[in-house]
Amino acid sequence: MASPAAAELTFTTLPHPALVSDETRTAILANPGFGTNFTDHMVTIDWTEGRGWHDAVIGPRQPIALDPAAAVLHYAQEIFEGLKAYKQADGSVSLFRPDANAQRFNASAERLAMPALPESVFIESIEKLVALDKAWIPEADGASLYLRPFMIATEAFLGVRPAKTYKFILIASPAGNYFKSGAPAVSIWVSEYTRAAPGGTGAAKCGGNYAASLVPQGEAIARGHDQVVFLDAAEHKWIEELGGMNLFYIFEDGTILTPALTGTILPGITRNSLITLLREEGLSVTEGRYSLDQWRADAASGKLVETFACGTAAVVTPVGTVAGAHGEFTIGSGGPGQITQKVKDRLVAIQRGKAEDTHGWVRKIA
Ligand SMILES: Cc1ncc(COP(=O)(O)O)c(C=O)c1O
Repeated sequence: MASPAAAELTFTTLPHPALVSDETRTAILANPGFGTNFTDHMVTIDWTEGRGWHDAVIGPRQPIALDPAAAVLHYAQEIFEGLKAYKQADGSVSLFRPDANAQRFNASAERLAMPALPESVFIESIEKLVALDKAWIPEADGASLYLRPFMIATEAFLGVRPAKTYKFILIASPAGNYFKSGAPAVSIWVSEYTRAAPGGTGAAKCGGNYAASLVPQGEAIARGHDQVVFLDAAEHKWIEELGGMNLFYIFEDGTILTPALTGTILPGITRNSLITLLREEGLSVTEGRYSLDQWRADAASGKLVETFACGTAAVVTPVGTVAGAHGEFTIGSGGPGQITQKVKDRLVAIQRGKAEDTHGWVRKIA
């Protein structure tokens, strides 16, 4: 769907009547958790058919009014993104590849029959919110301000067709470590459920994909594992991704494999960045297919030495054990491997401004 030029949009700032006290905020930032605490402000921008994006507002974070017939509540026309603002060593604040999130947001919008948001508006809304809520960025190692841009269909009607009105919203949440256990390597459960079928919405970041993953994820937790891993829907043979992370396999000869983007997995921005960084290390990274049977056999023979999962929330996380209906196997020593650790350190150093950003990935904003 067409959208107006970004230049037509100006942000109105609404005053906040009651900011969270310094004392409360300091206590939250000392132990932010993940996704349970929120900053003082939010951004909202409306879209109406025939008018495009309008009424960009940055104001107090508060509940929104939604008609009970709003399309999002019935047919799940919703998309979202996730990225982080990092406190740099020099006290400044930066984002990591927000343009890539803006592009993926619009790719998701297209798949869900929603309007595109100009990339510059997506980034400007983030810059404005982070500048206003700068005091909410935790400084501890591994901590950051998690940003959640999303879009919902707001038109009140019952009927299966694209809505004629939408709302873009941006909220922010101080974040510590993603995995509660803080384990050096995670244990994953191979689900009998599937996440995405060919031709479906697997490559889009839409809420429905995650609703469908709750039962399999719950099953993984109930069996004592950290995360669920999904196999492909057609043959139930090829490893796709975790509930919220992409996978990389590292072999003893130094070659690396990651599942190809065939439309059923999310094109992770961390995945894309790591492919570049690993290749810069002189390692050969292939995008292809890897079966569960091969994974088990290679782990047993020692051909496979490391596996890691990656994503914005959990960064780079070693996979130690894999369990499923057909038994359990351990990868390498079951702990973090050398290449995993090295590439994680390099990525985090770039994100935090401690290593040179030769790719123009880091965007200083405040
Ligand atoms: C299903 C899924 N796969 C992979 C990822 C990793 O993507 P990114 O590296 O862009 O955070 C995410 C997180 O957004 C996800 O939800």
